[in-house]
Amino acid sequence: MDKPFSQACENNKEPILKVLIQHFAQCKRVLEIGSGTGQHGVYFAKNLSHLAWHTSDASSNHAGIQLWINANPSANLHPPFSLVIGQDSWPVTPYDGIFSANTAHIMQKHEAKLMMELIAEALPKGGVFCQYGPFNQDGHYSSQSNADFDLHLKSQGYGGIRDIEDLQYWGRGLELCDQISMPANNLTLVWKKR
Ligand SMILES: C[S@@+](CC[C@H](N)C(=O)[O-])C[C@H]1O[C@@H](n2cnc3c(N)ncnc32)[C@H](O)[C@@H]1O
Repeated sequence: MDKPFSQACENNKEPILKVLIQHFAQCKRVLEIGSGTGQHGVYFAKNLSHLAWHTSDASSNHAGIQLWINANPSANLHPPFSLVIGQDSWPVTPYDGIFSANTAHIMQKHEAKLMMELIAEALPKGGVFCQYGPFNQDGHYSSQSNADFDLHLKSQGYGGIRDIEDLQYWGRGLELCDQISMPANNLTLVWKKR
């Protein structure tokens, strides 16, 4: 099996890292929800050596993530465990940082809602959640390409682009501290546990 590859990850990892360097500066243990190929995990663990990075996803993605880890081992990079929001129970390990990229629009609405609720409950006071992806504001798309992408997602059975206001409502224990514009009409939302 070859390592799975996402060109989008190669394009966005550097701009995302700049955000994480700032907002995960005080974090010691970070959970990544929906690690996908594993490219983000290996890159962020290598460049954020002060913290432990824990990858997770559905078990069908573990072999691919592990190939990336084997090719780029870091003492602070941990193998994937199964975390499917809506199916698996929340891990008992405490995390003071959580990262998730491009998951809320893939998840069904009840899963995205549950993810926000679980994160709001699990993070300690001052804990940080960095959430990357396309988002809507006040029901509006930020670009025509995001509107087209949303139609495509829904036609494939995925949940679709989320409104920031819904995420705020579902994750009421979190404060939305920052919304950082990223390339390709994406955002990084920075949430902090109140
Ligand atoms: C579009 S991919 C993004 C992967 C990677 N984070 C990236 O940015 O390239 C969406 C990921 O969300 C994961 N996912 C979908 N539903 C999920 C759920 N209910 N709980 C956790 N992860 C989920 C998928 O397995 C997949 O890895």
